[in-house]
Amino acid sequence: MWKNVAPLFTLLSCSAALNVLLTNDDSWASANIRATYTALKADGHDVLLVGPAVQQSGKGGTFVLPTTDIVAPGGEFASIPVGAPFFGQDSQNPNLFYFNGTPAATVVFGIDIVAPKHFGSSPIDLVVSGPNEGQNNGPFLYTLSGTIGATYTAVERGIPAIALSAGNSTHRSFTTNTNETSDPANLAAKVVADLVRALSDKVNVTQERLLPLGIGLTVNIPTFGPDSNCSAPPFTFTRLTGGATVNQITLDPNTGFPVSNDLEARGINANINGIREDPGTSTGVITEICLLTKEDTGETPTSAECETAVSIFAVDYDAPERIARPIQKRIRTNIRSNHLL
Ligand SMILES: *[C@@H]1O[C@H](CO)[C@@H](O)[C@H](O)[C@H]1NC(C)=O
Ligand SMILES: *[C@@H]1O[C@H](CO)[C@@H](O)[C@H](O)[C@H]1NC(C)=O
Ligand SMILES: *[C@@H]1O[C@H](CO)[C@@H](O)[C@H](O)[C@H]1NC(C)=O
Ligand SMILES: *[C@@H]1O[C@H](CO)[C@@H](O)[C@H](O)[C@H]1NC(C)=O
Repeated sequence: MWKNVAPLFTLLSCSAALNVLLTNDDSWASANIRATYTALKADGHDVLLVGPAVQQSGKGGTFVLPTTDIVAPGGEFASIPVGAPFFGQDSQNPNLFYFNGTPAATVVFGIDIVAPKHFGSSPIDLVVSGPNEGQNNGPFLYTLSGTIGATYTAVERGIPAIALSAGNSTHRSFTTNTNETSDPANLAAKVVADLVRALSDKVNVTQERLLPLGIGLTVNIPTFGPDSNCSAPPFTFTRLTGGATVNQITLDPNTGFPVSNDLEARGINANINGIREDPGTSTGVITEICLLTKEDTGETPTSAECETAVSIFAVDYDAPERIARPIQKRIRTNIRSNHLL
């Protein structure tokens, strides 16, 4: 319906009114998701919020469905009473739903059960997940984060999706929003709305997808708030695997117990698929696996500054042909010469 009665602002800015399914992992009652709902609605989009009933941080892409109604202590921030159904609609706003599952299960419930009732035969143009309370930089958190888990699950279903993760990690209810533009939730929500506009302006979504099949975005927003000087971060294109860290274990000399440290390891930073943002040395064609150096724009170092890091990912985990072929050839040759088959 919104598509036919686009508000004046949308007409003036030539941006498309999108069918947006909004989700997260910090629960449907978090300040960030509700501020983002308001910001995307203000841009004329038809926004359907379906978020987890409780905090589901760190669940990655795990898929857990509810088998009971809401149990004690109830929904996050007392947003749902104990004994309420496993999913439900806000009594004030019919566009807001909770579902008592993991983020990946919640987004699929949104896609298969709630969206068809809300959008009718019109498809979901975009899934927006977040903004998470805390950044999710690098491949290690790509797998661990429920915000990103819901995103790649939607991408796997064939729906363009964006994960957003904000530096301010305070877990807070929407009822704590100050309603000032400087509130960290409102600042993060504005980044989301700006990015959605940049992605969808001049795209007719009835003719063209917002992102190709199998492709999503993961976006890391810097820290906002009274204890930070950052309020208007520019967007910077980054690689997910740039300056990324993974765990290393050392033994504490005093206790003898293992402790983990962040290691900027070679494997996690191997530049196999992405654009190597290093105009000084790039030939435009990546012919070898090159390790990112500090000059390359990885999302981890970029979002530590007052910049929003935008990485484009694929859910195709396969190694590219130029790398896979020689490995296949060696295995095949050795199998044949050793008569293993
Ligand atoms: C912010 O706005 C909402 C909705 O108008 C209102 O319910 C809430 O009380 C306001 N919060 C503050 C701190 O003014
Ligand atoms: C978008 O595409 C549809 C289908 O081709 C067309 O009917 C509609 O007029 C287009 N909208 C705009 C704004 O160009
Ligand atoms: C994060 O947000 C909270 C809640 O608005 C705020 O109290 C805190 O100062 C913010 N953190 C930073 C680093 O600004
Ligand atoms: C913010 O900027 C002021 C003035 O430039 C500086 O004194 C202060 O240390 C900065 N705070 C942070 C958190 O960067």
